[in-house]
Amino acid sequence: MARVVTGIQPTGNIHIGNYIGAIRPAVNLQDSHECFLMIADLHGLNGGLEPEVLHQNILDIAKAYLACGLDPENVTLFRQSEVVEHAELSVMLAPSTSHGLLERAHAYKDAMAKGKPVNAGLFYYPVLMAADILLYKAESVPVGSDQQQHLEMTREIAERFNHTYGETFVLPQALLMGGDEHLLKGLDGRKMSKSYDNVIGIFDSPDEIRKQVAKIVTDSKLPEEPKDPDTDTIFSIYRHVALPAEVEDLAIRYRGGGIGYKEAKDLLAEALITFLVPIREKKQELDANEDAIHSILTRGAEKARVVASQTVKEVKQKTGLLP
Ligand code: ADP
Ligand code: TRP
Repeated sequence: MARVVTGIQPTGNIHIGNYIGAIRPAVNLQDSHECFLMIADLHGLNGGLEPEVLHQNILDIAKAYLACGLDPENVTLFRQSEVVEHAELSVMLAPSTSHGLLERAHAYKDAMAKGKPVNAGLFYYPVLMAADILLYKAESVPVGSDQQQHLEMTREIAERFNHTYGETFVLPQALLMGGDEHLLKGLDGRKMSKSYDNVIGIFDSPDEIRKQVAKIVTDSKLPEEPKDPDTDTIFSIYRHVALPAEVEDLAIRYRGGGIGYKEAKDLLAEALITFLVPIREKKQELDANEDAIHSILTRGAEKARVVASQTVKEVKQKTGLLP
């Protein structure tokens, strides 16, 4: 089986856009690939979160993947900080990373352009991410298109190292999941994103879901007027969560001018509730048994270290740190 490695930042408020764009595609890979899935908690330190919040976010992201069907027997799910080789390899890759490369990074450039304070953690991010990937020698890295630059940088660092010390690292490619055209819209019609505060959370209660759906922004067409399902936010979410026959039915009613936005919102809220019930129930089971999550993550870290420590040993030998 081909190996893939990917990471997710432990940010809070996991929403259905994350589910459609990241969680479901990763869960779908688990039967056909050998998957290493890390919670990138060292990267999470850059966010400057309160310690309790970061800790909760780490657990929540593990719960989200498990509640959405990730099988920890099948996938190596682990925390980056529990596999010390990530920090170790990143230090050993730093001399193969040029200053210019880091200065080109979008996240760093954006922060500079906006006059935000930039710490070394943000500047160093691409080196740590290169270590995350190169440790596992995977050819493919499932990510969203926004991560393409990080993958290019990882290849550049790996090439430089290989050139200096001989073939060591596999040059990884992004396995693009979704694309901008697959981005789920949020309540205000922009991309659903926690930074826009326009999300429906995957763990939201039925009441919260109804309240959020009621906020969806629509145009002012009357119920009898035809509507274009392809541009409407309610429909664009509905098509991901309702059954195919229901989706088709609603599209016909939209085009024929047989439904108002109030009724469409009610249909969407109920479809979302039905869709999210099993995920929420599984999450409640996991909440009641956090020890089980900790052991899944510890076991994952042990499995990851088998591979990661091999790579670090090889790098130490190639660079002269070990005989
Ligand atoms: P946010 O925009 O809420 O901060 P992140 O940037 O943390 O989300 O994204 C985490 C993952 O979820 C990424 O893989 C990203 O591609 C995916 N994702 C985020 N928002 C959406 C969306 N609206 N539609 C589809 N995928 C999304
Ligand atoms: N930078 C990625 C993001 O912001 C998260 C990440 C960290 C990652 N390490 C990784 C993704 C390794 C893929 C592989 O989404």
